[in-house]
Amino acid sequence: MSIVEDILRLKKEKNAVILAHYYVDEDVQEIADYIGDSFYLSKVATKVDADAIIFAGVEFMGESAKILNPTKRVFMPDATADCPMAHMATREEIRLIKEQYEDVAVVCYINSTAELKTLSDVCVTSSNAVKIVKNLPNKNIFFIPDRNLGSFVAKQVPEKNVILNSGFCPRHVAIFEDMVLAAKEKHPQAKFAAHPECTQDVLAHADFIGSTSEIIDYVVATDAEEFLIGTVDGVFAEIRKQAPGKKLYTVKADQVCVNMKKVTLEKILDVLEHETNEVFVDEQTAKLAMVPLTRMLELAK
Ligand code: 13P
Ligand code: SF4
Repeated sequence: MSIVEDILRLKKEKNAVILAHYYVDEDVQEIADYIGDSFYLSKVATKVDADAIIFAGVEFMGESAKILNPTKRVFMPDATADCPMAHMATREEIRLIKEQYEDVAVVCYINSTAELKTLSDVCVTSSNAVKIVKNLPNKNIFFIPDRNLGSFVAKQVPEKNVILNSGFCPRHVAIFEDMVLAAKEKHPQAKFAAHPECTQDVLAHADFIGSTSEIIDYVVATDAEEFLIGTVDGVFAEIRKQAPGKKLYTVKADQVCVNMKKVTLEKILDVLEHETNEVFVDEQTAKLAMVPLTRMLELAK
C-alpha cells in the first residue's frame, strides 16, 4: 500500500480531516480535504465536524483551529513547525502602548501566539486586515507583530493612526527591491504579484498585492501569461492546477518557508497512526484568545 493510501485509510478510520496551507509541499496539498490561505482555513476550522483535524501548517494555525473548535482534537504533523513572526511582539510592548493611547485597538495578525491574541482586541489575516482596521471605531491602532503588513494597512487606511511593531517574516523580507528590479528586467512581460509581508520598497513595484489565495485568484483571472511571484512558491501548485499555461517565476531562488516545509506525508501518517503532537491550549488562554478570533470572523463578513 502507498503512503497516500495509508493516510486516506487512517483518515477515514479515525474520522479526521486534513487542512493544508498553500505553503506546504504539493504532495501534502494533494491529500488535503481543504487547502487555503490562513483566513479560509480558520473559517473551515470552525465548521469541521470530524473528530480530528490534522493541520498541515505551522503552530499558530493549529492553535487557532483548536481555540475556534475546542471539542475537536487537533494534531500538527511536525510539532516544531512554527512561524518565527508569531513571537515577535511582547506583553510589555502592548502594555506601554495601551498606557500611551487610551482608545487604542490592538490588532493582531493571526500569525501570532495564543498568548498575544489574549492581549488583543481583534485578529486579522492578510486578506481582511484592511477591511477590519477601516471599520474599527478606534483612531489609534497598534498593529502586531508584522511591521510590513502593518505598513501596508496604514497606507490603505490613512484616516487611522497605525502604530507599528517590529516583527517581520524572515522569508518575505529576504526579497529585496534590487532582486525585483533584476527579475523584472529578465521577464519584462511578467506581472508582479506580492504578499503584503514584503517590504514597502518591494510592494511599490507590485501590480497586485494580496494574501496567498488572492494572489492565486489574481494570476488565474488575469489575462497575462507571465507572473513574477513575491511570496512562498508553495502557491505555484494551485496556480498550475487552475491555470496550467501560465509561466511563473520567483523573484529569487529558495522562496520557501522552512517551517511549512517540515510538513511531510510521512509525518502526517505518523500522527494519524500514533496520535502524537496534539495541540492543547489552556482553558483561560483559549477563552481569551477566542474573543479576537471570533471578532475577526464577524468583522470580515
Ligand atoms: P496568508 O494569510 O496569505 O495565507 O499568509 C499566511 C502567511 O503565513 C504568509 O506568510
Ligand atoms: Fe511565518 Fe513567514 Fe512562514 Fe508565513 S512564510 S508562516 S510568516 S515564516
